[in-house]
Amino acid sequence: MTSPLFSAEHLGKRFGGQPVVDDLSFAIAPGECLGVIGPNGAGKTTTIRMCLGLTAPDTGRVHAFGHEMPRDALAIKARLGVVSQMDTLDPDFDCAENLLVYGRYFGLRDQDIRARIPHLLEFAALSHKARAKPGELSGGMKRRLSLARALVNDPDLLLLDEPTTGLDPQARHLMWERLQMLLQQGKSILLTTHFMDEAERLCSRLLVLDHGRKIAEGRPRELIAQHLEPEVVEVYGPGALALAEAPAHEGLRALAARVEVSGETVFFYVPDAQPLLQALAPMHPLRTLHRPTNLEDLFLKLTGRQIREEG
Ligand SMILES: Nc1ncnc2c1ncn2[C@@H]1O[C@H](COP(=O)(O)OP(=O)(O)O)[C@@H](O)[C@H]1O
Ligand SMILES: [Mg+2]
Repeated sequence: MTSPLFSAEHLGKRFGGQPVVDDLSFAIAPGECLGVIGPNGAGKTTTIRMCLGLTAPDTGRVHAFGHEMPRDALAIKARLGVVSQMDTLDPDFDCAENLLVYGRYFGLRDQDIRARIPHLLEFAALSHKARAKPGELSGGMKRRLSLARALVNDPDLLLLDEPTTGLDPQARHLMWERLQMLLQQGKSILLTTHFMDEAERLCSRLLVLDHGRKIAEGRPRELIAQHLEPEVVEVYGPGALALAEAPAHEGLRALAARVEVSGETVFFYVPDAQPLLQALAPMHPLRTLHRPTNLEDLFLKLTGRQIREEG
């Protein structure tokens, strides 16, 4: 393996005596997109903040580009681009000015930043909004401006904390396309998300976090194959829940390797769905959805189906 661009070793952080990040180690190879997925409160943002030197870790070390945090924070930050979970755009400045002011933090000369601004705005699909203030932008536009701002210093590694949360499907697709462009240009990305389709589409490798601990790591397809049966039949509609419990349906359940309930849907995980589908066919009002298992199934298997509320 090529030597990592970035590495975190045995990172740990407690808040109020509670471990929020617990003995977490990972590395990012050049050109890689590493996804960190985990429920609300899993410790994703705290991990990113420790990587940036914004939160001091209780244990562990962060290295990047051959430098060590926090000793060489300036040298590291010069090569990092960051989009934080909450928008931190300056509301008093227009889009172009936001880029200019941010570039100055890196000690870049105004004329050099100004020369880059049209290109950055074009990348963000915001050329027509150069003179608009953030308050006049849609959610998707704000996220793209934040991404453009993170590129002002032409970083090698981008740390993106939930870059598409709160965006509508069109805006998410546009963001995905831009992130793919950056990967094609050779940039490396660490992104957190709770959208499993996003993780599967963009990330070459995933880290699954729960309660601050790494509970799985690997390529999306390999993780799915390792933890799950190849197919799932979702059953819903009147009477569906009885299939998961009633003694009369024991034979049906025996056709599945694993049966799970979430809300009003029963999930039958199977190596081969045909026998189960045949058995279900005469059970009239029930609706079925037969599909390959995906990252969402993996995530729910590893972290449980109960909802974690925000905050
Ligand atoms: N500054 C802080 N002080 C106290 N608790 C915090 C602080 N920051 C985060 N936490 C807590 O740490 C846990 C992990 O938070 P966070 O890293 O934001 O998770 P995620 O980004 O995965 O949703 C949560 O329970 C959160 O309430
Ligand atoms: Mg977060």
